[in-house]
Amino acid sequence: SAHEWQAPTATDSRGPCPGLNTLANHGFLPRNGKNITVDMVMDAIHDGFNFDKGTLILRVAAKLGLLTTDEIDNYMLEDLALHGTLEHDASLSRSDIFPDGSGDNLHFNETVFSTLANSNPGSDVYNITSAAATLDQRLALDMIEHPDLTNTIKEFFVRAIESSFYLSAMGDPIKGVAKKELVQIFFREERLPIAEGWVRSPVLITNEILGNLTGRIQELSNWTSGPGCPWIRLQP
Ligand code: HEM
Ligand code: MG
Repeated sequence: SAHEWQAPTATDSRGPCPGLNTLANHGFLPRNGKNITVDMVMDAIHDGFNFDKGTLILRVAAKLGLLTTDEIDNYMLEDLALHGTLEHDASLSRSDIFPDGSGDNLHFNETVFSTLANSNPGSDVYNITSAAATLDQRLALDMIEHPDLTNTIKEFFVRAIESSFYLSAMGDPIKGVAKKELVQIFFREERLPIAEGWVRSPVLITNEILGNLTGRIQELSNWTSGPGCPWIRLQP
């Protein structure tokens, strides 16, 4: 069908977001990952995952993507790896890019992902408690390799939102509970795990639902701010 999973080809653009990559792999976004507009992103996250098109958190993210390119009204998925606009340190599934340009902040990294993958031992689900603990653990591990990483309130907020995204898109958005198997396929294969029993959320995932999950994840975390002021990179 039009929305079957297909692996990207060598010339297709993919980026640091497992959500948008998955939507491109299923044809909810252009499979080449290019010339993506804000409207296309809002339609795709609704059609693929049942996120409310009016969700301001997601609308702002989709609009911030435009700052990662010199184009006026569209971007490629790889553009989103521009460090400091949306892309940040201490990700769940990608390494950091260092000030000298070394490091890969774009491609899935199994070593990085193992913190999330192995979280909440003894259970077959992830939840807001494990998501908060995972954010803290990833930050602590990352600081060993990258002591100068950027960790202000901005990064903390974005990281908590992203955790609400995988819990709600792969699981029950009200409870914030998602099966480990489905979350792992989503990150590792950037595939909707339909064959494994995933269904698109029957509940419209609204700003209120995401805000609630994000707030609870932040409360359950032991985060403290690193040095520096929140900053948004405005252009490549
Ligand atoms: C991470 C962009 C929507 C799930 C990211 C990152 C970017 C991004 C640039 C990399 C941040 C980093 O880890 O350094 C966007 C834009 C969106 C969007 C522009 C437009 C609305 C979504 C949706 C989902 C999603 C709908 C879920 C279905 C995630 C997750 C991460 C992430 C789980 C964290 C990855 C990690 O920490 O390794 N997103 N995203 N995103 N995104 Fe998206
Ligand atoms: Mg990152």
